[in-house]
Amino acid sequence: MTEEKIIKLNMGTLYGGSNDDRATLCLGIESSCDETSAAIVDSNRNILAHIIYSQIPEHQKYGGVVPELAARAHILAIDTVVRQTLDACGKKIDDIDVIAATAGPGLIGGVLIGWMAATGIAHATGKPLVAVNHLEGHALVPRLHAADAAGGDAACAVDFPYLLMLASGGHCQILLVRGVGQYEQIGQTLDDSAGEAFDKVAKMLGLGYPGGPIVDSRARAGNPERFKFPRPLCDKPGCDFSFSGIKTAARVMLDKAPTPYTEEFVNDFCASFQSAVVDCIVNRLGHAMDDKRVRAAAPKTLVVAGGVAKNSAIRAAMGKLAAANNMVFAAPPLSLCTDNGAMIAWAGLENYRVGRVVDGPVAPRPRWPLTEL
Ligand SMILES: Nc1ncnc2c1ncn2[C@@H]1O[C@H](COP(=O)(O)OP(=O)(O)OP(=O)(O)O)[C@@H](O)[C@H]1O
Ligand SMILES: [Mg+2]
Repeated sequence: MTEEKIIKLNMGTLYGGSNDDRATLCLGIESSCDETSAAIVDSNRNILAHIIYSQIPEHQKYGGVVPELAARAHILAIDTVVRQTLDACGKKIDDIDVIAATAGPGLIGGVLIGWMAATGIAHATGKPLVAVNHLEGHALVPRLHAADAAGGDAACAVDFPYLLMLASGGHCQILLVRGVGQYEQIGQTLDDSAGEAFDKVAKMLGLGYPGGPIVDSRARAGNPERFKFPRPLCDKPGCDFSFSGIKTAARVMLDKAPTPYTEEFVNDFCASFQSAVVDCIVNRLGHAMDDKRVRAAAPKTLVVAGGVAKNSAIRAAMGKLAAANNMVFAAPPLSLCTDNGAMIAWAGLENYRVGRVVDGPVAPRPRWPLTEL
């Protein structure tokens, strides 16, 4: 593994939590997809060190993640990433109080590598171990650090309960987050995730992988009214999503369009597609706010998390929706939306605080719905 593939995200107490000498330190490891990442986070909400080794260059030529290549890359990277994370903040393994790692859901080859590394460290040192659900990492990281729609600090800390739009590469759900380990599903996708739709539409346009960030940036220069995309389920009650019809509409329109696509065509296409996705999210969240379980819980904060939470139009639209419903909007800072070790370390600390530590063998799981926690 070469040095330049390692991104050192944050060192020092970047997110400025409080100072408490007795803070609990957690080493978190993430390896469920195409990032090998580790972070040391303390219970005062400080990220002491954070290393993300991204495999994107390895998978780009295939237009998506190749599980076998991902597993091999995790094996090669894991020891270095953990060692560099400790070195980056001058800590020894003995300084760490808790070890946490993703135990699913995800590509099982990668999950096994991160989980075995964490298990090995915990057994060798006698430290407590937390098996983190990757989706819980996404769901709880806004409590480590929350940003507003424009990227500034959120108006307040994200306290339970909150209404969460979890939109990532593999998942798309609306959840009522009542507490650590307490997730009530209000809506979910009936087919694809939003991230999958972004990636597939980008691939159809020949824009490369991962497609979400490219579509987002091309959409900024485009006309969202030019192409008529469907808004599946938006005329129906309920909070579920469907994105496969939007993908099919994209395929049909592109098959009729003259090639090569002009820059203006691609920008307008991205803007029109993204606007359909945003409308679906706003429509479904509007219904979720009327759901009787959500009304009874009266969450004060509307949160978006997962890789798709990086999307500028989704953040802006959800910010407006929150304001119109007297809620505060919060999202993780951009660097904590896609997969990262800090969210796993933070979820490890939150679980440790409520006593959810491993007390026997754990079998990593490729599928592990949040509602089964
Ligand atoms: N600016 C953006 N706009 C839209 N989508 C984005 C943006 N940035 C990233 N994404 C999408 O986020 C997804 C990756 O998110 P994430 O890392 O959370 O997924 P994952 O870990 O593979 O899936 P899961 O968390 O469900 O297991 C990709 O589909 C990517 O295209
Ligand atoms: Mg993820």
